[in-house]
Order: sequence, then C-alpha cells, then structure tokens
Amino acid sequence: MKNFSKDPLSIAIIGAGVMGRGIAQVAASVGINVILHDLDEAVVNDAVDFVYKMLERAKEKGRMSETELAISKSCISKSSELENLADADLVIEAIIENIEVKQSLFKQLEATVSDDCILATNTSSLSVTSVAANCRLPDRVAGFHFFNPVPLMKLVEVISAIRTSAAVVEQLQALSKRLGHTPVLVNDSPGFLVNHAGRGLITEGLRVLHENITDVQVVDEVMRDCLGFRMGPFELMDLTGLDVTFPASEQVYNQYFQEPRVRPTPLQRRRYVAGLLGRKTKQGFYRYEDGNKIESAEPAVPELEVNSSFWISRDNEELSSKVIAVLQEAEVTIDDAATPAKDSIVIVTPLGLDVSTALVNENLPAERTIAVDALFNMDKRLTLMSNPATSELVLNESWAAFAKSGRAISLIRDSGGFIGQRIIATIVNIACDIAQQGIAKPEDIDIGARLGLAYPQGPLALGDATGASRILTILENLQLVYGDPRYRPSPWLRRRAQLGLSLLDEEI
Ligand code: NAI
Repeated sequence: MKNFSKDPLSIAIIGAGVMGRGIAQVAASVGINVILHDLDEAVVNDAVDFVYKMLERAKEKGRMSETELAISKSCISKSSELENLADADLVIEAIIENIEVKQSLFKQLEATVSDDCILATNTSSLSVTSVAANCRLPDRVAGFHFFNPVPLMKLVEVISAIRTSAAVVEQLQALSKRLGHTPVLVNDSPGFLVNHAGRGLITEGLRVLHENITDVQVVDEVMRDCLGFRMGPFELMDLTGLDVTFPASEQVYNQYFQEPRVRPTPLQRRRYVAGLLGRKTKQGFYRYEDGNKIESAEPAVPELEVNSSFWISRDNEELSSKVIAVLQEAEVTIDDAATPAKDSIVIVTPLGLDVSTALVNENLPAERTIAVDALFNMDKRLTLMSNPATSELVLNESWAAFAKSGRAISLIRDSGGFIGQRIIATIVNIACDIAQQGIAKPEDIDIGARLGLAYPQGPLALGDATGASRILTILENLQLVYGDPRYRPSPWLRRRAQLGLSLLDEEI
C-alpha cells in the first residue's frame, strides 16, 4: 500500500455530483491526480467545468499561482467506463445513497482495481459495515465522510467498519491532512460522530416546541444570545432542509433501536410531509422572502410601573446572586428577608426543574412565583418562565422590571430546564454517550462538533465549562419532571461528575 501522506497518488471518484466534484476540487488543488467517473457522462463534463471554474477563482483571489493552476487542472481526468479506474490507489464512492446500489458498485470495483486499492464510501447515513458486507476484501473498505461544501468544511470523518484494517485508517487520515482537512476517527455507528452528536440541538429544540412552551424564534434567540450558538435549531433545520434532517433523525433513532436520547418528534414528520422544508421551499419553521427570514419583532414590554419588591430564592447562591445583580441594575426593590413578604414577587432559579416543582419544593406561593434561567450568559437576553398559576399581573410586572435592565426578555411557559438548560444538557449527554460507546475519542468528539456543526465549543468542553455536576443535576431533574428515559445521564457523565473529572478525561 502506498504512503498516502507523500507518494504520488491516483484517486478515482465515483459520482460527480455535489460531493464528488467538491472532493475532486480539493484533491486537484493540492496536486493529486483525480479521475472523475459517473453513470451520466454529462455530469462528469459539468463537474470538470465546475472544478476548473473554482480553481480559476482561487487563482484570481491569489490563493494559487498560474503554474499551480495549470498543475491542478492537469490533475483532473474523466472516465465513462469503470475499467478506466483500474490503476487507482484509492476509490472514493459518492453516488446515490442506496445500499443495494452501493454494494453492487463495490462488488464491481473489486473486479476492477488492484487488491491494494483502498475503497472508501462517502455515505452520510448508511452503515459502512453493510456497504463492505459483500466485498471479498472488506478490510480495505472504510468510510471517508466529507461535509458539504467540501472545500469550506474542513472536517472529514474516517470511519472504521467492523473489519476495516488499521493501515487503511492510517492512510486515509494522512490523506485528509494532505487535503487540508482535519480527520476525526470514528467507529461505524448510526449517524457516525457528527450526525449523532447533532441530534441533541435538533431533537431537544423540537421537544420545546412539541410541549408548546414557546415558539421557534424564542428558542433560536435564546440559543444565540445566551449560549453563543451561531444558529438555533430551527434556523439550522431551515438551512439544511427537513428533507435531509428528518430522514437523518429517523434513521439515527431507528438504527439505535429507538434510543430515547435521539428520539425525533411527530411534529418534524408532519412538517416534512407538508413540504415545509426550509429556505429551499421558502417556508420552513420561518417564512422567507427574497431569501430573507421573516421574523417577528420583539414583543412590546408592558407599560406599567414596577411597584412590587422582588424576593429571590437562595436555593442556589451563585445563580440567585446573578439575578439580584440584574435587578439592582434595573433599580427595583429587593426583598432580602428570609421568607418573601406577602406581596413580593418571588423568583426561583432552578436547574432542570420546572417552576411548579421548584416552588412546591421550596414552599413558595405559586401565583407570585416565576423562574429565571441564570445559568448562562445574561448580558443580552433573559428567559423568564411562568407556572400555570402565575398571575398575569405578576408576569407583566416581572417582565417590565427585568426589561428595565436593558436586556431583551423571552417569556416561556413552564418547562423542565427552561430552553437553554435542557438543550445543552441533551447535547452534552449525547456527546458523553458517544465517548462511552467508544465511537470516537473525546477530543475528536469536540473537534467534530466544532468543525462539522459550527458549535462555539465542543460539547464535552461545553459540559466542563457549565460544570459536569450541574449537567448531571439538570438531567436528573429533567427525568424527575418528565419521567422520560431520554434524559437518563450517560455513565460517562455521571462518573466524571461524581469524581470531579473533566468530561474530556479518558479511562486508561
Ligand atoms: P448527487 O445526487 O449530487 O450526486 C450523485 C451522483 O452519483 C449523480 O451524478 C449520479 O449520476 C451518480 N450515480 C448514481 N449512481 C451511480 C452509479 N451506480 N455509478 C456511478 N455514478 C452514479 O449526490 P451527493 O449529494 O453528491 O451525494 C453523494 C453521496 O455523498 C451520498 O452517499 C450522500 O449521502 C453523501 N453525502 C452527501 C452530502 C451532501 O450534503 N450532499 C454530505 C455528505 C455525504
């Protein structure tokens, strides 16, 4: 087998669609020979024109010289017959996502290429082990999963099927680096690493909607303003398209034999069936006009005088002091007695619990109690949560009071873990279980989520920053509120939280 990090290589790419041409472009731009093959000859011609145009654009932008452009262009050749791929050192398959078609292609390939040639599939959702299942030499088959658009998304999952040899993984890893991509090593499993880790944000965002706690815009705003995500779950699904997201959600769930942690919601299917796919159909969770998302204005703050004083539960000193600081900025009166005065508005700051449970636990008056999520960044936006007994006057006065601090206010109905806590805890818990199952190493899990999902931090680092024991508390309380095994903490999380270790720590 050749040394993929330095030897001259010949790569064959089968399927010259969106992914095949993207991979061809990155390979040619570093001077690796590429043969593009497709069932449809016109697609190959179009793909080569496309790659030439992209390379020329790179030259115009000063990213390559005239000579490099000429070399890159000369690296690309076309093929209309599978036999032309006989001398390839590596074949990357990027054809239609259908297991029978892929298996039959791999069988044909084994009759065409040498026994040394590595066979890789770019499948996004099929089991690599099943793609390799009918092969004569399954140890040379691996997953090589790029992301769209390939030149910009600098991540690639190198996926070991059950029988893939370590030497094959090593060569694909070396090639990734040569292509300017960051490889993460992943064991074949539903959704691999990135699509599995990505279920947390999407499915938990959908659960908030499913429980009618608030609307999509509020969820997205909280995830952006308080958690630093570039996009909330609904903006993300509209961008990707429900025609991609829903089948992926369903596949990961069913391939895991209905694992509750990655369970989709019926709402997602209804919207998919109705064709509300996202930006591409001009209507998804949002409506789009001329490509622009239509958003509602922030709701108007009630115009009323804040006369009540505010009593803040000391159940969690650190969180309550953050709320007190905001209320002091807002110049409202703080009731700092041991128990609330009979007309004070009561604020609780629960972790994972809904307001109803928190106020019953603390023996507080339901009609005068609301909750504030004080766990994350409170500089721009605050999440205020009512309970079924909260009076309208109390809610409006609390809203007006917190708005005086200059922050945007998101009002939501009673929910275990508000919006941010339950979504973050789900993301961290799923990442922990990916580590527990040994699908990928902890640092690769975080690299995968940062580069593949554009998360501000890897989920394990995010869990550490929030505090592993707090994430554990949130999950345990979510389980208490909902009785749903979806929230059962991964043993990876529980052990590290109990021992005070980082979620990135591996066991020897
Ligand atoms: P595409 O539809 O743009 O291109 C597929 C190409 O394969 C078509 O040109 C088609 O003519 C050709 N083809 C189909 N059957 C063939 C066969 N038996 N032999 C030769 N060529 C054949 O599809 P796309 O989006 O490029 O996806 C390709 C693969 O990459 C799929 O497995 C997909 O799941 C995976 N993938 C797609 C991503 C995306 O965002 N589009 C991201 C990551 C992986």
